[in-house]
Amino acid sequence: MGIGEAFAREFAARGHNLVLVARSEAKLYALAEELRRERGIRVEVCVEDLSHVDAPVSVYEFCCQHHIKIDFLVNCAGLSQAGYFDDIPMGKLDDIMMVNMMAMATLTRLFLPGMVSRRQGNIINIASLGGLQGVPGLGLYSASKAFVITLSESLFMELQDKGVHVIVVCPGFIATGFFDHAGHNVKKIRLPLSGVDVVVHAAMRGLKNNRMRIFPTLLDAILVFSQRLASRKTVVRLASYFAAVNDE
Ligand SMILES: NC(=O)c1ccc[n+]([C@@H]2O[C@H](COP(=O)([O-])OP(=O)(O)OC[C@H]3O[C@@H](n4cnc5c(N)ncnc54)[C@H](OP(=O)(O)O)[C@@H]3O)[C@@H](O)[C@H]2O)c1
Repeated sequence: MGIGEAFAREFAARGHNLVLVARSEAKLYALAEELRRERGIRVEVCVEDLSHVDAPVSVYEFCCQHHIKIDFLVNCAGLSQAGYFDDIPMGKLDDIMMVNMMAMATLTRLFLPGMVSRRQGNIINIASLGGLQGVPGLGLYSASKAFVITLSESLFMELQDKGVHVIVVCPGFIATGFFDHAGHNVKKIRLPLSGVDVVVHAAMRGLKNNRMRIFPTLLDAILVFSQRLASRKTVVRLASYFAAVNDE
């Protein structure tokens, strides 16, 4: 769904074969069928719940069993839960940390050796502007995206001379089902929502231009730059104002 589906469509349009990973089996098969038919590419479906600790290994083994070498790994699966931290159900807390951080790090760790040995690979990690500071009402989510940003920055440098390019994309608010899934009333958000293609095209440009961190829109870039001019408290207060999660 959402941004991940948009990446799948973009890579399909460029003639790449795909492995689609998520939980929603019917949606995955429908998308796979459509892309095979329209683009004439090979599309494999790997149904996995990435909140399970062994799911990344299952994805990796699926690729090995099907003799698939991964040239582009897009770590896009992610979720959030709107509200106060002490109201987050314990199960949801686990899911957010497992999918947003553990699955992303483990998949990267599993697929990297193959990329390094071939001296060819690209890893696109989807973080968020929310990962650049705490966001009241989205505390765990913003912390999980800070993890994605920090790990990606380190890997970008570590892998620079090994033929593997790691980028981290930090979108602002994007029109997908993400907010419904998180219980976040999208109407309260005080910034414009962009389309999924904005994220995908910025990521593809970023790969081409050997960038490390990608802020998809001009507004995103302005917000990031303006952080340098304000106190940390102000930055967090503004993030809270824009996301408006806990507003009545
Ligand atoms: N939308 C935004 O405003 C925004 C802004 C910044 C960053 N992002 C990031 O962009 C990424 C994609 O979000 P989106 O907006 O496209 O949200 P979305 O429409 O809710 O899509 C989330 C995707 O993650 C998959 N997913 C969720 N939990 C999973 C699990 N346990 N196992 C496997 N797959 C799982 C979902 O598939 P299934 O449900 O079928 O498993 C779905 O394909 C996320 O990492 C999000 O944090 C979004």
